[in-house]
Amino acid sequence: MLNHLVGMGYRSAIAEWTRAHLDQFDVLEITVDHLIHRTSAQRAAIFDLVGRVPLTAHGVGLSIGTDVPLDLAYLDQVAAIVEFLKAPAYSEHLAFTRVPGRDLGNLLPLPKTEEVAEQIIGKVRTVQARVGVPFLLENITYMFEWPDSKLSDAEFLNLICRETGAGLLLDLENVYLNSQNHGFDPYEFIDALAPGLVREIHMAGGITVRDPAGRPVLADTHSHPVQAAVLDLLDHTLTRERPATIIVERDDRLDAIDEILDDVERIRERIALQGRTHGRAALGSAA
Ligand SMILES: [Fe+2]
Repeated sequence: MLNHLVGMGYRSAIAEWTRAHLDQFDVLEITVDHLIHRTSAQRAAIFDLVGRVPLTAHGVGLSIGTDVPLDLAYLDQVAAIVEFLKAPAYSEHLAFTRVPGRDLGNLLPLPKTEEVAEQIIGKVRTVQARVGVPFLLENITYMFEWPDSKLSDAEFLNLICRETGAGLLLDLENVYLNSQNHGFDPYEFIDALAPGLVREIHMAGGITVRDPAGRPVLADTHSHPVQAAVLDLLDHTLTRERPATIIVERDDRLDAIDEILDDVERIRERIALQGRTHGRAALGSAA
């Protein structure tokens, strides 16, 4: 049986609407950093959700790729929040967002080498030792590639996850964007992932912008409906993976609530279609 929980990333800007429409979602994804940095009223609104809808935990503040030891005090805060939320997993980006003394304000890619993977593996083990639920790494979008990268995206992820037992939060919008902006086949990327790695999925919709040279590039704006091409990637992923949750990420144009609900519905339709296809395949092989 296909049993994926479908929901959205909780956003304080539409907290009241979300609370009034919890029945639309199987799960909400909570950004743990919002519980560290937001106002007490916003934190209380999140804590009020515990026990009313399944919650999963996502982070943006770890910067696991920064070449300094992890902030253990931050990790302990995360561990306490994850426990309070009763979240089944905690996810973070395989990226760096700061260098010592400076916040870079962006998710930036790492050089994909065995040496960098080794450093990340050590840090993932630290996270796993301090946070009491499975840890998932998320693939990011990138606008440039480090010249010393030697491994492919999938090889880099597979290596870190194989050595640590960490899972993958597969952001399909990010896969699609990178494939369009850097010219690779997104289906080949998904097929190159070690089987069973994908525990959660992110879906989102971005827009096309122009780079300084006037060339069109896709931007990860989380502002528009999920594109059909990204739903097609979900179809393909679900033929080989069993993610526990599928989350719509929306950070802009949050007043277009119908679009968010429509994204959730279209994802459910794709899952249902997948179930019918599987059912037919099972009947066919039994015949
Ligand atoms: Fe994401």
